[in-house]
Amino acid sequence: MTSQENIDRARVLRRKINQANIDYYVLDEPAIPDAEYDRMMQELIAIEDECPELITKDSPTQRVGARPLDSFSEVKHVVPMLSLSNAFDEEEMTAFDHRVREMLEQDQIEYVGETKFDGLAISLLYEDGVLTRAATRGDGVTGEDVTQNARTIRGIPLRLQGKSTPKRFEVRGEIVMTHQAFDKLNEKQKAKEEKIFVNPRNAAAGSMRQLDSRITADRQLSFFAYSVGLFEKDEQSPEITSHSEMLVRLKTFGLPVSEIMVLKGLKACLLYYRTMNNLRNSLDYDIDGVVFKINDFKQQEIMGFVSRAPRWAIAYKFPPEEELTQVLDIEVQVGRTGALTPVARLEPVFVGGVTVTNATLHNEDEIKRKDVRVGDTVIVRRAGDVIPEVLKVVMEKRPDNTRPFKMPAKCPICDSDIEREEGETVIRCSGGLYCSAQQVQAIIHFASRRAMDIDGLGDKLIEQLVEKGLINNVSDLYGLQQTQLACLERMAEKSASNIISALNNSKKTTLDRFLYALGIREVGDATARSLANHFGNLSAIQSATQEALEDVADVGPIVAKHIVTFFSQTHNQEVINNLLTAGVHWSDVEVKAEQPLRGKIFVITGTLKGMKREEVKQRLLALGAKVSGSVSKKTDYVIVGSDPGSKAEKARKLEVEILDEAGFLSLLE
Ligand code: IVH
Repeated sequence: MTSQENIDRARVLRRKINQANIDYYVLDEPAIPDAEYDRMMQELIAIEDECPELITKDSPTQRVGARPLDSFSEVKHVVPMLSLSNAFDEEEMTAFDHRVREMLEQDQIEYVGETKFDGLAISLLYEDGVLTRAATRGDGVTGEDVTQNARTIRGIPLRLQGKSTPKRFEVRGEIVMTHQAFDKLNEKQKAKEEKIFVNPRNAAAGSMRQLDSRITADRQLSFFAYSVGLFEKDEQSPEITSHSEMLVRLKTFGLPVSEIMVLKGLKACLLYYRTMNNLRNSLDYDIDGVVFKINDFKQQEIMGFVSRAPRWAIAYKFPPEEELTQVLDIEVQVGRTGALTPVARLEPVFVGGVTVTNATLHNEDEIKRKDVRVGDTVIVRRAGDVIPEVLKVVMEKRPDNTRPFKMPAKCPICDSDIEREEGETVIRCSGGLYCSAQQVQAIIHFASRRAMDIDGLGDKLIEQLVEKGLINNVSDLYGLQQTQLACLERMAEKSASNIISALNNSKKTTLDRFLYALGIREVGDATARSLANHFGNLSAIQSATQEALEDVADVGPIVAKHIVTFFSQTHNQEVINNLLTAGVHWSDVEVKAEQPLRGKIFVITGTLKGMKREEVKQRLLALGAKVSGSVSKKTDYVIVGSDPGSKAEKARKLEVEILDEAGFLSLLE
């Protein structure tokens, strides 16, 4: 029996769940914790189990289809789905604006700037406000019916919000997979020993092509709306005259729309392009360019179409971050800690804005999994400042008689044995500082900017010095003579004398720089700073026990063990003594009795009015806090200024405490 109580409760739950989806996906402001959402869903499922007559097609419990399909049926689009013309440089973009201005006989055009999502296009048909059909783009005229899968995407409303919704309404947009969802998916795939997806776009496309919608539901896809194919409005609702107004309307229907910008004239468009290109890698989803659309609908109509693309819009593409190239060789490099890293030497290729000649293959497991071989054609990716990597081999292009790559059994530099620690993926040379590659890397690290900051002492020069036997370890640097340097390749008297002064200048340093420069495993500059602030002087750190070290902010058992081991080794003690004898010195750090923010992790984003970011950082560090560049579950606070980036968004999603400037100042007090 259906009680009135159940009817009412089901209605309330559906409303709350739908609202939670809109808060999350449309407004980007999650209002309730995930656990609460799950609890409401469970309650609604229980009610619907008890009274199946209460189930409606648009109930949030009905997102996943009951049975897998045998195949997708074909769908003819109500209005064909067009594509966009592309511009690849400023010249082509300028030519586009020029054409538009000529045809419209106007000096300055109002455009809307949007991101160009790198996912797959989809059309959603709503009849009387209810989602009745979802279709892929296909060839633009006919696509595939993926309604069952689209219904599983939480950002796609099953029923439009608001009182006056159009009778028939077709909205278009893109299905994307966020990086977070992508990483999670690949982790799961790896654990199940199933296919690893190359990039979020392939993962999103693969997920939409599942005949079993339970799989799609598990993939956590997102949707962004960007245009309308059909809009049969009722008489009462006001006329919509521009694209930006339309997007606002879509939002009120409960459809997710990405950040857009109304731009007056070409200059503003070019600035928008540059800004988005810079922001590109901080977004949680991939974009491969920006799209400019003439805002005014009447002007759009005047411009019309050419073949399969509108003349009122253009996609201005970013330089590609993925390219094809050939593997010329695979070399194994030995790093500072002895880790062996296979590196692919590549046929030079322009990708991510630079010419790439090497790409990391990470480790033995990765190279095996991808089965990269000399002679292969591969997809290389370089995004932002990230080191280029080989994503995938194009198997169809593999030449005959290639051989699987094998990691060397001995260190390629010093012939020492190789060891692989339990549970680790990295293989290490056991030679320690006997291995010249490790020597060189240790010295390069010692001289680097954030360490001893020895100006002019570059990688090549250090390699030469080690090769010629002039130095073996970092303390030998301070015994170098100007005449010895001047004899080296590409070294003149003047540059040799500059290096000697740089070496002398570097002797005056700080405790944290010195600690970082020693190159203790897992001790980065932040940990070095924590150690310095906690103990105040070197001998306290040298004699600290494992337990005492673990008291330091962000020092865990593994790091503590590396520190103890480092200082217990005689050759390290000798090197330290030699450095001190050579005159390396610093002032001890005053240990603050009270560090109220000890161990707390902060992230700063956006512009603060009263203070420079560096100043905020220094004050936090002084109070024992740690300042990180990215938001994760471990972050304690995110300080958000004006125009915050995606970090604020991420903080909200992860439910990290957010402080505005005033909140931060009161925390300081
Ligand atoms: S508008 C008539 N806006 O790009 C205009 N498309 O090459 C049709 N895309 O298949 C599309 N982001 O999948 C538009 N903000 C955006 C877009 C976008 C990505 C894709 C879309 C389409 C392709 C066109």
